Amino acid sequence: MSMTSRHRLRSGSALGSFLVLATLVWNIRFVLFSSYGSEAPSHTLTILIWHWPFHHPLNLSGDVCLDLYGIQSCQLTPNRKQYSHADVVVFHHHDLEKKGFDMPTESRPPGQKWVWATLESPSNSHGLGIWNNIFNWTLSYREDSDIFVPYGQMVPKSFVTFDIPNKTGLVTWVVSSYRKSQERASFFKELSSHLKVDIYGKAVKKPLCSSCLLPTVSRYYFYLALENSVHRDYITEKLWQNSFVAGAVPVVLGPSRKNYERFVPPDSFIHLSDFNSTKNLANFLVSMTPERYHQFFRWRKRYAVKTYTDWRERFCIICSSYSSLPQTKVYSDLEGWFWE
Ligand SMILES: *[C@@H]1O[C@H](CO)[C@@H](O)[C@H](O)[C@H]1NC(C)=O
Ligand SMILES: *[C@@H]1O[C@H](CO)[C@@H](O)[C@H](O)[C@H]1NC(C)=O
Ligand SMILES: *[C@@H]1O[C@H](CO)[C@@H](O)[C@H](O)[C@H]1NC(C)=O
Ligand SMILES: *[C@@H]1O[C@H](CO)[C@@H](O)[C@H](O)[C@H]1NC(C)=O
Repeated sequence: MSMTSRHRLRSGSALGSFLVLATLVWNIRFVLFSSYGSEAPSHTLTILIWHWPFHHPLNLSGDVCLDLYGIQSCQLTPNRKQYSHADVVVFHHHDLEKKGFDMPTESRPPGQKWVWATLESPSNSHGLGIWNNIFNWTLSYREDSDIFVPYGQMVPKSFVTFDIPNKTGLVTWVVSSYRKSQERASFFKELSSHLKVDIYGKAVKKPLCSSCLLPTVSRYYFYLALENSVHRDYITEKLWQNSFVAGAVPVVLGPSRKNYERFVPPDSFIHLSDFNSTKNLANFLVSMTPERYHQFFRWRKRYAVKTYTDWRERFCIICSSYSSLPQTKVYSDLEGWFWE
């Protein structure tokens, strides 16, 4: 019996109001990593973290996976001396890019899985082409990764209460790096010709301290959740944290509306494609009524938001997924897969 399982829920409900397809019933697949299982696996899995993501070591004292996430029999270690008996070795792409040839020199023990991990999009992951026929599993925000670690997820709940934070401003955006070539830059420029966007972040020399971000954003009706690049499933903390956790309604620029709807209710966000022009989007925002605004919060009665922010949790999930993952697999074209 598997010690763990990944549940995919299907939940049906009536459609949100600005789509007028009254008869359409939608399905969303929410992915839950619930019920890590009470059965102890036959042995403790050792997950060797080859490079700490972004050179940022995390505290592993105690039984981290059990103590923090309720995941049993899972030992995380950064100690390369454990290589020969590790069940899994995980490599973080950004650090491979920097020191790519700092790879294990001993041969790979039979059955050991090498995991390629990233939370960045293909546009921001360089040098992928040299990593063919090396990794057995992937860990990323892509739903078809072997170990799927989204930035957040909807957790079905009953009787959740949510108070919409008090609002003092219409639209805000927080941006740390702004490049004119990005799709979001031209969108922002155009939108701000129709309405005033309050902008914060390093890019405009108005950085927000980490504990100031959510309280600041929550005072706005809308948050521009503009991804730095547009790729399948690449839906980041800009949606989950800066919008949903803060309690601002996201205006999203990213993959298609359909792609978002695989993970979140259709009436929880505004998609650029809902409007035939940026001007009409701006009109919709400025002429918002309280009634219409409240509709963006209806889903809060049914779902709570869980965000994933800690690399230790992502690595522990390797253990909870382990027994259901393919035991023989090789990524022969990693770049091709990731750009798909
Ligand atoms: C690491 O975590 C342990 C257990 O939670 C805690 O007691 C200890 O103070 C932490 N160490 C550091 C350096 O934060
Ligand atoms: C909004 O403001 C009112 C009046 O100042 C206050 O009573 C209420 O608690 C505030 N609501 C939230 C969610 O902060
Ligand atoms: C764009 O949409 C608005 C209403 O949302 C409609 O009135 C207008 O005719 C549309 N324009 C075009 C060019 O489709
Ligand atoms: C993992 O990938 C390596 C490299 O391609 C391969 O030799 C090995 O057989 C794979 N291991 C498993 C258990 O699939």
